[in-house]
Amino acid sequence: MKKSILGISGSLRASSFNSALLRAAFESVGRDADVVIAEIGDLPHYNAELDGDDKPAGVSRLIEQVRAASALLIVTPEYNYSIPGVLKNAIDWLSRPAYQSPLAQKPTGILGASMSPVGSARAQSHLRQILSGTVTPVFPYPDFLAGAAHTKFDAEGTLTDEATREHLAKYVSAFLKWIG
Ligand SMILES: Cc1cc2nc3c(=O)[nH]c(=O)nc-3n(C[C@H](O)[C@H](O)[C@H](O)COP(=O)(O)O)c2cc1C
Repeated sequence: MKKSILGISGSLRASSFNSALLRAAFESVGRDADVVIAEIGDLPHYNAELDGDDKPAGVSRLIEQVRAASALLIVTPEYNYSIPGVLKNAIDWLSRPAYQSPLAQKPTGILGASMSPVGSARAQSHLRQILSGTVTPVFPYPDFLAGAAHTKFDAEGTLTDEATREHLAKYVSAFLKWIG
């Protein structure tokens, strides 16, 4: 059966490098899988009192999308050496019930872009640690970091740097093999 990949971007900016990276990754997926990009900007702050049978609409939608997907691709900016709160909030909503949540056993790839030379490395490291708490298997190799992102995308958000495009194609190809 054809695989489906749900993409989640940790940036809400319209001209986000990370959302542009996600779109470039999905272009590279081509017809090898169905792809959808999730909306996480409208989720309320996590509150266990709202996390009952009748969840906020955006939360139920996201949970259904994650359950329906064969795999996730998460792209994260680095905010203060970690992942943005908006992404952590989405993960918290997706993390219950512990160990049996929509994230449990969901194959997941992590990518990131940042203007710094180390290109989201610290945020990705935190994200791996967070996803170990949700028993989410994370694609182990290769890593994908787009450092100096402002030099690699044009004003329309197209990934123009040839070496980065080639590495992204290798990443996507290995990720597709890994998810089976
Ligand atoms: C609140 C905040 C904190 C940031 N902290 C870091 C950081 O710790 N390391 C880093 O490399 N870049 C940091 N940046 C720069 C972002 O990585 C950069 O703005 C990036 O383009 C954001 O991703 P986006 O283009 O997908 O929105 C920070 C930006 C903001 C707004």
